Amino acid sequence: MYRTLARLNGFAPLKQSLVHSRTLATEAAAASPRLKTFKIYRWNPDTPEVEPKMQSYEVDLNKCGPMILDAILKIKNEQDSTLTFRRSCREGICGSCAMNIGGRNTLACLCRIDTNTAKEEKIYPLPHMYIVRDLVPDLTHFYKQYKSIQPYLQRESHPADGRENLQSIEDRAKLDGLYECILCACCSTSCPSYWWNQQEYLGPAVLMQAYRWLIDSRDEATKFRKEMLQNSMSLYRCHTIMNCSRTCPKGLNPGLAIAEIKKQLAFD
Ligand code: SF4
Ligand code: SF4
Ligand code: FES
Repeated sequence: MYRTLARLNGFAPLKQSLVHSRTLATEAAAASPRLKTFKIYRWNPDTPEVEPKMQSYEVDLNKCGPMILDAILKIKNEQDSTLTFRRSCREGICGSCAMNIGGRNTLACLCRIDTNTAKEEKIYPLPHMYIVRDLVPDLTHFYKQYKSIQPYLQRESHPADGRENLQSIEDRAKLDGLYECILCACCSTSCPSYWWNQQEYLGPAVLMQAYRWLIDSRDEATKFRKEMLQNSMSLYRCHTIMNCSRTCPKGLNPGLAIAEIKKQLAFD
């Protein structure tokens, strides 16, 4: 009955024309591009005589996903296939898309594009690292440092039933906030101490993992792990500046983990 009345009174055509004008407005918005400039660090090892430079690309935000990774993938796919960067999971799990975006180390796949088109977005590789090409830093030394802390369970004794090494719920909870680290290196490469001493100072990412194994109730290599850190460089180059915790894209707190290691060593 209501529908019939509405039709008789001309409401239905009114609704249709509203939908139509909304569609027109959407099409008009799509037709007027929202161009944003991305300035991206470029360096090619095949032409070492050419200095690194910042290259500008314009991306229409109406035709791009919301994240920085969407923008640089779009640039690579549609404008410049030579632009080089690492990425894999596009959901903050693999850690490979770490870079310096707008002055902050973070993951390109978790970083939203600032939709203010008047503002350019500057993108650099992680700072103070050797560069393989464009946005790809050389992480060889970082991984060597990770390997040096022996990041795996070490025990002499094994469970009598030959099954899992059990852990209480409380002891397992101590690993929360530590095991989630994806080794993206955002924290280490934001740390001034790591910039200047990275040959010897382990840096926040690796130290947080050292702590993760130090406090694992199942591990029996505690003495060795502590001895390894008991020197002037590996650990004590941390001056509690806390850049590391501020920048971690996973919301972890490597600065606190380092402070906990220092406490453990002090009360030994
Ligand atoms: S707290 Fe320590 S590890 Fe973190 S940024 Fe500062 S000096 Fe570096
Ligand atoms: S602590 Fe955070 S910033 Fe550092 S490596 Fe792990 S996930 Fe990345
Ligand atoms: S692509 Fe894996 S963390 Fe960004």
